[in-house]
Amino acid sequence: MIVYGGDWNPEQWPEDVWPEDVRLMREAGVTHVSLGIFSWSMLEPVEGRFEFGWLDRIMDLLAENGIKVYLSTPTASPPPWFAHTYPEALPVDFEGHTLYHGSRQAFCPSSPVYREKALAIVEQLGRRYGGHPALAMWHIHNEYGCHNGRCYCDTSAAAFRTWLRDRYGSLDALNEAWGTAFWSQRYSDWEQILTPRITPSFTNPGQQLDYRRFSSDALLDLYRAERDLLAKISPDVPNTTNFMSGLYWDADYWAWAEELEVVSTDQYLAGELGDEAHIDLAFAADLTRSFKPGRPWLLMEHSTSAVNWQGYNRAKQPGEMHRNSVQHLARGADAIMFFQWRASKIGAEKWHSAMYPHGGKDTKIWREVVALGELLRDASDVAGTTVKADVAILLDFASIWAQDHPAQPNTELKPIEIVKQWHAELWKLGITCDFAHPGADLSGYRAVLVPALYLVDDAGAANLERYVAGGGRALVGPYSGIVDDRDQVRLGGYPGAWRDLLGVTVEEFFPLRSDDAIELTGGGSGRLWSEVAHLTGAEVLDTYLDGRPAWTRHAWERGAADYLTTLPTGEALARVLTAVCAEAGVTATGTPGIEVVRRSHQDGRAFLFAINHTAADAEVPATGTTLDGTAVDGVLTVPAGAVRTVREAR
Ligand code: GAL
Repeated sequence: MIVYGGDWNPEQWPEDVWPEDVRLMREAGVTHVSLGIFSWSMLEPVEGRFEFGWLDRIMDLLAENGIKVYLSTPTASPPPWFAHTYPEALPVDFEGHTLYHGSRQAFCPSSPVYREKALAIVEQLGRRYGGHPALAMWHIHNEYGCHNGRCYCDTSAAAFRTWLRDRYGSLDALNEAWGTAFWSQRYSDWEQILTPRITPSFTNPGQQLDYRRFSSDALLDLYRAERDLLAKISPDVPNTTNFMSGLYWDADYWAWAEELEVVSTDQYLAGELGDEAHIDLAFAADLTRSFKPGRPWLLMEHSTSAVNWQGYNRAKQPGEMHRNSVQHLARGADAIMFFQWRASKIGAEKWHSAMYPHGGKDTKIWREVVALGELLRDASDVAGTTVKADVAILLDFASIWAQDHPAQPNTELKPIEIVKQWHAELWKLGITCDFAHPGADLSGYRAVLVPALYLVDDAGAANLERYVAGGGRALVGPYSGIVDDRDQVRLGGYPGAWRDLLGVTVEEFFPLRSDDAIELTGGGSGRLWSEVAHLTGAEVLDTYLDGRPAWTRHAWERGAADYLTTLPTGEALARVLTAVCAEAGVTATGTPGIEVVRRSHQDGRAFLFAINHTAADAEVPATGTTLDGTAVDGVLTVPAGAVRTVREAR
């Protein structure tokens, strides 16, 4: 089954709306709802007094109607009584401002009293509903860190010190790692250490990097506490927590995914990306899939049309919601869910689209919601199949955090944007890729791309060398392999980690202004960055007009590693990626605006998804039958703006 549904917030509505909602859900083919996400103040209106009657009635109603529940722990939004009684548990921002209650997520992740009160309500919920027939999974919290991912209060500072003692054991080791010989920053007592705060000039880079690691861990620890408690009470019920893959970069989701049974995520179209916004969705879907290789994942939230938080909030064109949904399905999702079921008439999200809009049933949104329910029901045997990619992009959160320090050769060089650009170029070439942690097993990939990995630890550096030595093909982008895991420069010429592998030594960086371009002999240009690189074994594949190497290749044992000394733009990047992939035996097959992805299973099932993002009909090579049973013999026609799925002939 492909799970279909959304967040249901019945507590916002009078009780006589509930049966109507459930009747409409059945009409739309809804199989599951996420429930109770923001219900803490309704479930525990006064500290220690629990009121579950209304939720009992909702759970029973859903069970009677065969709709399953991802029951949420409501801990993402503590009630006003919590902030009022325990003001010390409120989060504090970088500038020292307290963030008060009155919206959501008003708690410090390191607050002991928050943890105590959160676990108290989780325990009540677990005991009451752990065996309920409607319960399918625990939905733990909601989007950890969305608004309070980094807290700078005194409680956080104390927790940060504990975390640092654990990591370093001694102050000497911490002083060494943070390079505190610089600017007279040497610590002589643990109590002197703070979270980063407003300082007269740049903060210590080691401190800021470790603080980012600590902040991800502090939230992960909260997740673990809830998960472990629920596992004790209801050992057979699985759980997840919804990530914000591609939108939120403050949690190390590689580490988080190891703790999760099932990965789920929320994904929203970035209106400002205009015509290419759907490529960004593909990015997030590929990233989410990669967090648990070889396993399906759940799209916990996306939108049927406009959101309410982007300033200008673009509504989706007819058919766009189907294309977006099928993109996620094609890229490995076994659930397509929305925020939210019924559009609110109250609160800060009343202008956010939903499955059942303000206008009711005679609307584009409702018709498309019902049609999507049918499509997903017809696609039920897609569940459990996975996407196999031949190319991987290395990505690491610590590297992104380290490069986020403002004292850089060029702050315009933004790793997330570069990674997204390389992914987008692959998308256009029709090459599906995974993402991988630098330390992951890379042996299953024909090519491994490293667009922007400023920081790599020794194990990650050796891993790429081993991969290439074993016959792999690598392509490394500039300003990668520069520092170790303490953000300390690897000496002897850049990129210190991979000088030998690449057969290149970079003497000096020559960053470019944002409106400058550097022309490449082979066509197109590079931006933001250039280098003076010397060959120490590599051959040159392209140069700047003055003859300096722009693109090099080095044969290394059974494989080869390419290097770029600039960031090629569209046409030039496509040329490089096509060549590297071709060398690795991966062929570019892309047709502009047409997305084709395959999901398959060891048992022989295979599905080809074709999504036409253009205004003209398209033809895609395929053989099998479409979901509605039409035979396809070699060529599949995908009408303008439409989606087609083919059960491929075995
Ligand atoms: C998500 C959140 C939902 C809702 C949605 C709006 O970040 O989990 O509760 O706020 O955004 O797009």
